Amino acid sequence: MNTAIIVAAGRGERFSATQPKQFTEVLGKPLIIHTLERFEACTAIDEIVLVLSDEGREVFDGFRHAFVLPKLNRIVAGGSTRAASVRKGLDAIEPSTADILAVHDGARPLVTPDEIDRVIHAAGETGAACLVGEVTDTIKEIGDGKIIRTIDRERLRRALTPQAFRYRLLCDAFEKGELNASVTDECSMVERMGVAITLVEGGSQNIKVTRREDLILAAALLGALLNENV
Ligand code: CTP
Ligand code: MG
Repeated sequence: MNTAIIVAAGRGERFSATQPKQFTEVLGKPLIIHTLERFEACTAIDEIVLVLSDEGREVFDGFRHAFVLPKLNRIVAGGSTRAASVRKGLDAIEPSTADILAVHDGARPLVTPDEIDRVIHAAGETGAACLVGEVTDTIKEIGDGKIIRTIDRERLRRALTPQAFRYRLLCDAFEKGELNASVTDECSMVERMGVAITLVEGGSQNIKVTRREDLILAAALLGALLNENV
């Protein structure tokens, strides 16, 4: 059984709206529904565990009936950090049937079923896989308000989601690691165990909605994606 853990229990402070960004309407649907539909459309995913805050759960229950989400098996309460929310999702997995887990940010509605599929299959072969994006800007290391040096961007990648792991490996990483706010992805916890993580190239469309302006881009990209132009 391959399970997606979709974390959407954050408060969206950088987005600064009256309700968390995952419930903002984009092209006539709450953003989190777009994200869930990408996983529903991926044949490599058998079930979805959704992580929401208690208030978020009430909001979600208010519109859920309007959408067809047969893979959404469980909704669990999140924690105070992203890592703590992933942990709550992990705790909801049935160990006897668990195979590969794909952890995804609810705020990334532009992921494609093909990206999810490739990450799941890479993790099935090697144990751990991360969707990554190229770095297109020139990157500077800074200090004291000045540039110290230019980093070779060919050696850098942006960590996207989903990130996928064999169930037991992710459990081990979470047993050993701290779940504080400085942990912003699962790979960083698995890296600390000295485990090699397979890179899977992701598309530049797979943005995380973080600030208000990202919503304009997300709406345009979603429109194109739904018309299969991306
Ligand atoms: N997340 C979560 N539980 C938390 C914090 C974050 O499930 N305690 C989720 C968010 O809902 C989001 C994903 O993790 O889907 C990525 O986090 P981020 O983009 O930082 O979202 P927020 O934490 O909501 O935003 P901000 O940091 O601006 O407050
Ligand atoms: Mg955050």
